[in-house]
Amino acid sequence: MPALVLLGAQWGDEGKGKATDLLGGSVDYVVRYQGGNNAGHTVVVGDQKYALHLLPSGILSPGCTPVIGNGVVVDPSVLLSELSGLQERGVDTSKLLVSGNAHLITSYHATLDKTTERFLGKRRIGTTGRGIGPSYADKINRVGIRVQDLFDESILMQKIEAALDFKNQVLAKLYNRRAISAQQVAEELLGYAEQLKGYVADTTLILNDAIDEGKVVLFEGGQGTLLDVDHGTYPFVTSSNPTAGGACTGAGVGPTRISRVIGILKAYTTRVGAGPFPTELFDDDGEALRRIGGEFGVTTGRNRRCGWFDAVIARYATRVNGLTDFFLTKLDVLTGWEQIPVCVAYEIEGERTTELPYNQSDFHHAKPVYEYLPGWSEDITKAKTFADLPKNAQAYVKALEEMSGAPISAIGVGPGRDETIQINSFL
Ligand code: GDP
Ligand code: IMO
Ligand code: MG
Repeated sequence: MPALVLLGAQWGDEGKGKATDLLGGSVDYVVRYQGGNNAGHTVVVGDQKYALHLLPSGILSPGCTPVIGNGVVVDPSVLLSELSGLQERGVDTSKLLVSGNAHLITSYHATLDKTTERFLGKRRIGTTGRGIGPSYADKINRVGIRVQDLFDESILMQKIEAALDFKNQVLAKLYNRRAISAQQVAEELLGYAEQLKGYVADTTLILNDAIDEGKVVLFEGGQGTLLDVDHGTYPFVTSSNPTAGGACTGAGVGPTRISRVIGILKAYTTRVGAGPFPTELFDDDGEALRRIGGEFGVTTGRNRRCGWFDAVIARYATRVNGLTDFFLTKLDVLTGWEQIPVCVAYEIEGERTTELPYNQSDFHHAKPVYEYLPGWSEDITKAKTFADLPKNAQAYVKALEEMSGAPISAIGVGPGRDETIQINSFL
């Protein structure tokens, strides 16, 4: 079972970092395949807490080689500061591999991200402001700068000039901002080149060879299924493909090599930024989920919007990702509710549907139809097996599994590595 994908089944922040770290001890490579430092993956190891943005969560497992694939957008200043932050805490980062084909996020991408959001006004996406969208836009427009360009000064300069040609017109004439100097950008980027050189590799070749040799490769998604630019709640999405297919394009590995796709699924739902969210709560229950679940952004510190579990979304994630397993996280957060509502369908203009509407305005008008499951009050954070859970918690998990269309193979009952109930092995 050499290649697994681990991805978010909702709108991100499902607990992918913890799940990846948990598997890190048993896998040879952990690969980020899309997104960039818009991600915020929290890993708790003993009394140490790490917040990773760009680096794969496998970096905390000594036997594991962390890889940044070609589909990721890399802000070199963030990469270097994340590396030095970990080194200062005694983490060995020397095994890191970075694809030479990954695109760079430069200072002008972050500037454009923030300026565009400001100009969108109330139609803004609520991006993380990290330059993700503008960098992917340049990639698709074929004016992007790649990691490998850092090592050829004259090509780098030509590419930056080409990229800034149009942008400077827009910045100066439309946004009334100062034009950006290509020379200054080049100097900044060249300043990173020497420090990054040792990490750059042909990661596609290395990963395919590893799979041939029977090594275990784990692809770690950023964001989540409903933030996918193709399959998410467009335009309120990120600019990449967190869904399973993204692992193939974002790492250069064919779909026939992937044997398992694990969807990380929170026992309730959260979302950061703008866009539709049918089960969102605006009452005391929403506030309680935020407080008990610690639902504040790892990257931007924003309050996460909170709501009940949505089975329509979970089923959709099973469909578009071909999920083989779920890892249900944060079940402990639901302790104490007398009954727990679960959205089993939507009502859209009087019609009931159990499938995610593919029409955007239908989704905006979707009203959740709830089923009410009995809650539990016992502390479950020490539970080690499924049988240790109170009967009502077991029934809640079983009901979610039934509704979601794939087996729940692990359950999170706390943020720590050992606060996990493993039902089926992932390997
Ligand atoms: P990611 O972006 O998917 O990696 O998730 P985040 O790290 O942004 O957010 C998940 C939060 O939940 C982090 O603070 C984790 O430490 C925490 N967490 C993960 N799994 C569990 C769990 O089973 N129970 C509890 N209480 N916290 C968890
Ligand atoms: P992890 O990996 C939750 C959201 C932003 C915004 C939209 C677009 O920690 O789950 P972007 O900066 O990507 O252009 O913003 O996507 N977003 C996330 N929400 N978790 C994330 O990452 C996210 N990364 C981006 O809030 O709504
Ligand atoms: Mg996160």
